[in-house]
Amino acid sequence: MEIKKVGVLGCGLMGSGIAHTAARNGFPTVVREVNQELLDKGLKGVFDFIDKSIQRKKGTVFERRQVKNYLTGTTKFEDLAGCDLIIEAIPENLELKNETFAALDKIVGKDTIFASNTSSLKVVDMARATARKDKFIGMHFFNPVPVMKLVEVVRTKETSDEAFAAAMAFVKKIDKVGVACIDTTGFVVNRLLVPYLLDAIRAYEAGIATVQDIDNAMMIGCGYPMGPLTLLDFVGLETTHYIGGIMTKEFGLPQYHSPWLLQKMVEKGMYGKKSKVGFYDYSKGEPIPNDAALKKLLEEK
Ligand code: CAA
Repeated sequence: MEIKKVGVLGCGLMGSGIAHTAARNGFPTVVREVNQELLDKGLKGVFDFIDKSIQRKKGTVFERRQVKNYLTGTTKFEDLAGCDLIIEAIPENLELKNETFAALDKIVGKDTIFASNTSSLKVVDMARATARKDKFIGMHFFNPVPVMKLVEVVRTKETSDEAFAAAMAFVKKIDKVGVACIDTTGFVVNRLLVPYLLDAIRAYEAGIATVQDIDNAMMIGCGYPMGPLTLLDFVGLETTHYIGGIMTKEFGLPQYHSPWLLQKMVEKGMYGKKSKVGFYDYSKGEPIPNDAALKKLLEEK
C-alpha cells in the first residue's frame, strides 16, 4: 500500500492546508469542494498563505511552484477515482461525512485508504458507512496545517496494519510527525487542550486577571507560543464550544463543559478572529484586548 496520489475532501481552512502540504511535498493532489466559488476561495487562500510566507522568508518560491504543479481542484467526486489516500476535511457533521464517504466508496478503487480529519467524532462511526473498514483511519491535522508538524493517526479496531503503516509513512513523507492514537473522542490533543482552554475562560470569569495577563502568564511563564485566550480566538469559540459539547456527552466530566461566558459569547456571534471579535477585538487590525465588552457581558451573569 504505497500512497502516490492524494485526494482531499473540502477546501476550507483544514482541507486547503492539507492539500497544500501534500502538494508541496510532491504528491499529485486533488482537492474537492461542493461548488466552484468555495473551491476558488480555498485555492486562493493556499497561494495567499504561501505568498505571505515568502514575504516573511519562511516559505520559498520552490514551494509555490510545487503547489502550482501538483495541486488541482475539482467539484466532482469522480476526479478522486485514482487516489490512493483520500483525506476528508468537511464540516463536523456525522451524517454529512457518512453520506460523502458512502458516495465515494462506490467510485474509488478497493485499495484506496479513507481518512477523516475529524477532531471530535469517532472514526469507527464513519468507517461503518463504507465497505472498507480495514482501510479507514483518522488523520487529525493541526492549525495552521502547513506549519504545525503534528498529525494524530487514529486506528480503529478494524484498521489493518497495512493501512495504518501506509498512513504513518505518508505523514513522514509530508514532513510531519505522526502519533498513534486509539479511536476515542478528542484523541490526545483535544483531550488535554480543551479543558485547558475552558479553564482559561473560567479564570477570566472568576476575575483572576485581564485577557492580556492570562495570555502573558501562559506565554511567559510556560513558554507557550500563544496565550489560551488568543488560541481560543484562532480556533474559533463556536468550534471549542462544539467540541467541548461532544466531549461532555461522551465522558460526562465537568472539565469539558462550556463556561457561562463561552456560551454567551457564542450566542452573540463572538467567534474570535473569524468574526473579528472574541477575547480580542480584531476590527482595527492589531488585536485589542476586549475586557470592557466582556466585563459588560459578565454583569448579566
Ligand atoms: N489557527 C489558525 N491560524 C493560525 C493559528 C491557529 N491556531 N496560529 C497561527 N495562525 C496563523 C496566523 O494568523 C498567521 O496568519 P496571518 O499572517 O494571516 O495573520 C500565520 O498563521 C502565522 O502566524 P504567526 O504570525 O503567529 O507566525 P509565527 O511564525 O510567529 O508562528 C505558529 C506560527 C508557530 C503557528 C504560532 O502562531 C503558533 O504556535 N500558533 C498556535 C498554533 C496551535 O496551537 N495550533 C493548534 C490549534 S488546535 C487545533 O488545531 C486542533 C483542534 O482540533 C481544535
